Amino acid sequence: MSKKNLNGKETFTMNETIKIMAAHASIRKFKDTDIPDNILDSLITAARQASTSSNLQAYSIVVVKDKTKKEKLATLCDNQKWIRDCPVFLVVCPDLRRLDRVCQYRNCQIQDRYLELFLVAVVDSALVAQNILLGAESLGLGGVMIGAVRNNPDPVCLLLEIPDKVFPLMGICLGYPDTRPMIKPRLLPELVIHRERYEDSRFLELIKKYDDLIKSTGLYDGPNRKVAPIDNRDVPDSDYSWTEHSARRVASDNPAVTRAHMLSFLKSRGFGLE
Ligand SMILES: Cc1cc2nc3c(=O)[nH]c(=O)nc-3n(C[C@H](O)[C@H](O)[C@H](O)COP(=O)(O)O)c2cc1C
Repeated sequence: MSKKNLNGKETFTMNETIKIMAAHASIRKFKDTDIPDNILDSLITAARQASTSSNLQAYSIVVVKDKTKKEKLATLCDNQKWIRDCPVFLVVCPDLRRLDRVCQYRNCQIQDRYLELFLVAVVDSALVAQNILLGAESLGLGGVMIGAVRNNPDPVCLLLEIPDKVFPLMGICLGYPDTRPMIKPRLLPELVIHRERYEDSRFLELIKKYDDLIKSTGLYDGPNRKVAPIDNRDVPDSDYSWTEHSARRVASDNPAVTRAHMLSFLKSRGFGLE
């Protein structure tokens, strides 16, 4: 099956997998239905088979079903209700502890003071997380990733007994969707895909087009419009779309947004980053 892309020009081939990927939307409202063990096992199988740098598999996942723990995690993660309400909350963690133990076992020293191994573990974890969410969506479940586990990483580690050289990178709320949210149009392909060389000379024209597209969806209307985390921004509603929203997000120096605590947190948790 072929379809036109956003420009109405090119075509692409659709199959069941691509259909599920292209229909992704984060789910933040769940039915009061448990996830059967065999479904969770399938997701864990999908997770474990993700591509992994040098087959190092530098991640761990903490599966949380306990109501009290989810309650506490929700509180630690900006009171996000969906963490409390989802039947299963996964905490995906870059893990250099296991490889450190492998080195001790094989009588050598892990070189984790370079950024590289840290990046390897973070990328491995992100790939695993994506496999889980995609697998979940393919089985009629839904979910949302939760970066807010990094808001208060020390108490999260304490609660889940996460040891040194392991840290909570993101959570994933999983469950059966009780909502059908809008599929958010992504940046136009011409903005993110570069043919043979990096080329962004049409940036302004294309980003304005994307702003118009997002504006037409109403995505940032009403309560979804962010209260300005940077001061003195008085932008009329008509000019508030993806660029203003995203600029506010990345220009904010609010510690709740920058998570400026992360470097010292990681150092204190045994990551030898210099
Ligand atoms: C690493 C990561 C962390 C995220 N953290 C949160 C979060 O803490 N809370 C939340 O509601 N959504 C979170 N999201 C979901 C994004 O807001 C969402 O994916 C994005 O707005 C695009 O929307 P969509 O997934 O519905 O297409 C996160 C997504 C990623 C990839």
